[in-house]
Amino acid sequence: MNKLSLTTVLLVFGLFANTVRAADIEAGKAKAQACAACHGETGNSTNPLYPVLAGQNARYIYLELRDFKEGARSNPVMSPMAANLSKEDMHDLAAYFASQKPDNIPFKADPEKVKLGFAKTEEVLCTMCHMGGLKGQNEIPRLTHQHYEYTLKQLYDFKNHVRTNDAGNMSAVSKTLTDEDIVNIAQYISTL
Ligand code: HEC
Ligand code: HEC
Repeated sequence: MNKLSLTTVLLVFGLFANTVRAADIEAGKAKAQACAACHGETGNSTNPLYPVLAGQNARYIYLELRDFKEGARSNPVMSPMAANLSKEDMHDLAAYFASQKPDNIPFKADPEKVKLGFAKTEEVLCTMCHMGGLKGQNEIPRLTHQHYEYTLKQLYDFKNHVRTNDAGNMSAVSKTLTDEDIVNIAQYISTL
């Protein structure tokens, strides 16, 4: 093999290796130091307005980071944190947090509201997209193991068009919900 074709082979292989590079959990762990103050070392946040990331679907985490960076989803606290992440950083961080185990959430739900919230989620068919047990899949978030206050805020944000990076899915769903429905649903979800 002459020198030129060897260089070409190495170059092509390099490009290929780069595009199929697997997300790296260890690299993600190191990068996650920048997130620990709010989301916790393992993605188990204690402030209920900072979402739990531990065990969330990797594809979903990656897409949210991309949306924060590109401005499709915006939050004054979180957006600056994503601004300087590379695509590789986002994949590594997503792989790391997805591999972590979620803690139990200490929130005490109101059993009456939980019952009403469950009935509403059945009526609106949340499981059609979020799957059985609301565990999510790929780009659809897992809703379980999440803080009540965070879930409540997201449902209001979708309803009030503050959060619009959902391809219309959640805006359409939340439009049909009253504020009371939203409280009941978030109470129900807090028990999962
Ligand atoms: C200063 C606090 C803070 C830091 C540091 C921070 N975040 Fe966040 N993060 C937030 C808040 C607040 C939200 C919720 C925004 C909202 O209400 O929509 C959020 C939301 C997210 C979400 C969306 C989760 C979901 O369920 O939709 C992801 C993913 C995320 N952060 C990842 C990260 C990563 C990765 C880092 C580190 C590179 C990081 N965050 C650093 C405060 C922070
Ligand atoms: C048609 C599909 C669809 C249906 C039905 C649906 N969702 Fe969603 N939901 C989504 C998608 C997609 C996202 C993620 C949007 C994004 O990319 O940020 C989402 C996001 C969410 C989030 C934000 C999670 C987080 O970590 O930030 C909550 C909470 C939620 N949905 C609750 C519900 C509830 C409760 C119902 C039933 C009342 C419901 N969804 C029905 C598709 C759906």
